[in-house]
Amino acid sequence: MSFDWERDFYAATDWDRGAYLGGEAMPGHLERFFERVGVPESVADVGCGPALVPFELAPGSPDTDFYCYDVAPSVVEANRERAAEEGLDNLHFSVAGLPDLGVDSEFDLVYCMATLYFVADAERAVTELYELVAPGGTLVCNYPNRYTKVWVNEDTDDTRRAAFELVGRGENLLSYDWIGELLGRTPRSYWSAVGAGDADYARRSSPAVYVTKPE
Ligand SMILES: C[S@@+](CC[C@H](N)C(=O)[O-])C[C@H]1O[C@@H](n2cnc3c(N)ncnc32)[C@H](O)[C@@H]1O
Repeated sequence: MSFDWERDFYAATDWDRGAYLGGEAMPGHLERFFERVGVPESVADVGCGPALVPFELAPGSPDTDFYCYDVAPSVVEANRERAAEEGLDNLHFSVAGLPDLGVDSEFDLVYCMATLYFVADAERAVTELYELVAPGGTLVCNYPNRYTKVWVNEDTDDTRRAAFELVGRGENLLSYDWIGELLGRTPRSYWSAVGAGDADYARRSSPAVYVTKPE
């Protein structure tokens, strides 16, 4: 049976509110990226999970609306409850799944971290994410590549291997060049852009890129 985030993770574990990739450093990285591209009016966080980054940035970014999507209903509901408790009305949560999010909006920044691993049609998902970017806006995402596949098969535990089964079988791997071809734009390293090029999570099995859409 395939791994199901709702059934096998959110309903089955005492999940916490970390960021899967990059942990507590991730809000600061996105804040730094805002300095580079300009503070966006709208951000979509796709595969938001516990939404550590939006929850950290929302209070200090009152002019930015964060629209957060995840395929698992219980994390979306828990996020909604927390945002209401904290009075953060610039945070919005909906259930939606890649590769067809069904979201009919555009955003200044589309952010998708540690989620493409779990999408069978990662190519279509990247294209869908880029379609959500408004002219002049930016897509930031990480993706599975051939080094991620090696890590899944040789360097991790059984639980994680089950969740990363598509990557382990090499069914949804992408590359820097392939993303460039799919989007018709040259990707750049997000880790380098935010000064995290030397971080342990910026290893070659966890690449993260940004792509800016022309005006
Ligand atoms: C490893 S967590 C990452 C959460 C967060 N982005 C982070 O960096 O910590 C992966 C998240 O992707 C969600 N997810 C899995 N498949 C998805 C899909 N097809 N579309 C949208 N979200 C998905 C899961 O429910 C989970 O919350």
